[in-house]
Amino acid sequence: MSSSITDQEYKQEVFLRPKDFSEYIGQKKVVQNIEVMVESAKLREQTMDHCLLSGPPGLGKTSLAMIISKALGTELHVISGPAIEKKGDLAAILTNLQPHDVLFIDEIHRMHISVEEILYSAMEDYRLDILIGQGPSARTMQIDIAPFTLIGATTRSGLLSNPLRDRFMAHLHFDFYKAEELAQIVRNNSHKMEITLSEGVDLHIAKCSRGTPRIANRILRRVRDFAIVARNTKVTEQDVEKALGLMEIDYYGLDRMDRKILSVIKDYYGGGPVGIEALCATLSEDRTTIEDVYEPYLLKEGFLIRTPRGREISEKAKDHIEKSNF
Ligand SMILES: Nc1ncnc2c1ncn2[C@@H]1O[C@H](COP(=O)(O)OP(=O)(O)OP(=O)(O)O)[C@@H](O)[C@H]1O
Ligand SMILES: [Mg+2]
Repeated sequence: MSSSITDQEYKQEVFLRPKDFSEYIGQKKVVQNIEVMVESAKLREQTMDHCLLSGPPGLGKTSLAMIISKALGTELHVISGPAIEKKGDLAAILTNLQPHDVLFIDEIHRMHISVEEILYSAMEDYRLDILIGQGPSARTMQIDIAPFTLIGATTRSGLLSNPLRDRFMAHLHFDFYKAEELAQIVRNNSHKMEITLSEGVDLHIAKCSRGTPRIANRILRRVRDFAIVARNTKVTEQDVEKALGLMEIDYYGLDRMDRKILSVIKDYYGGGPVGIEALCATLSEDRTTIEDVYEPYLLKEGFLIRTPRGREISEKAKDHIEKSNF
């Protein structure tokens, strides 16, 4: 189970999305920065500065962009970096913006470089430099566009090109959520879903959610299903245990793929170090998925260690694999 997302889940996410800053739990540093930027833009009656949101999937980057545009009272335009194939497509979007609108570009590190170049002058001078014609008769035409705010989201800020990174005034990094924060999100969403939780259920779900609200919501929905089928009026600890069991999530919140990564390093590579390429080949998994979706949490929790010679697993990981109930 990764943090990647299905259509059905997307619809659910829209329903559970925090609507304003008061509903947006945690990420205090990020939110404090953003609130000041929004307030300042409103007082100046000017455009908010461009900002870059980085961090693992499912931590609330898209949700925050939506809250920002709502707080600014402007329209939000959402596009995905790799989906824009031609310069002209981005130029069309940029020329259609109204003053102070927010343009949200998801996975901005995966934008084609030729498309990305259009953004440099757009961000800096609210101007497009378009090359017309070819060869000696080619000339550049400049088109003014409305002042706008670019919010870039990325799971890998390290992969952004320097010219693009430099044009963001604020670089805000998202961390995994604390269990108490996730428990609060679970409680809020249980109200939205009109379900009652027995004591302790919120924290139990929170602790098994890999520090990620999207996963907490996913577990909450499965847990709700168990409670409904069992005709319980309240969600019980047993419902949580059953749901986690079927989802193959253990008491540390690790899922099947997390454990597979750790046991492959242990069994095939004697605990490591192993290079990322070799590891991905053995797992038959795409490198980006391993690096962006799985590794950050395993590193943060000290199951995995990155060394110059590759990845190693820790004593904690060895111990965990042996004792795991899966
Ligand atoms: N701070 C938060 N407070 C409450 N709920 C949150 C918060 N952050 C995220 N969520 C919940 O998690 C879901 C996923 O968040 P979101 O789509 O914003 O993540 P993301 O960082 O954009 O992920 P991706 O990198 O995959 O695009 C949201 O629909 C929302 O329900
Ligand atoms: Mg998103």
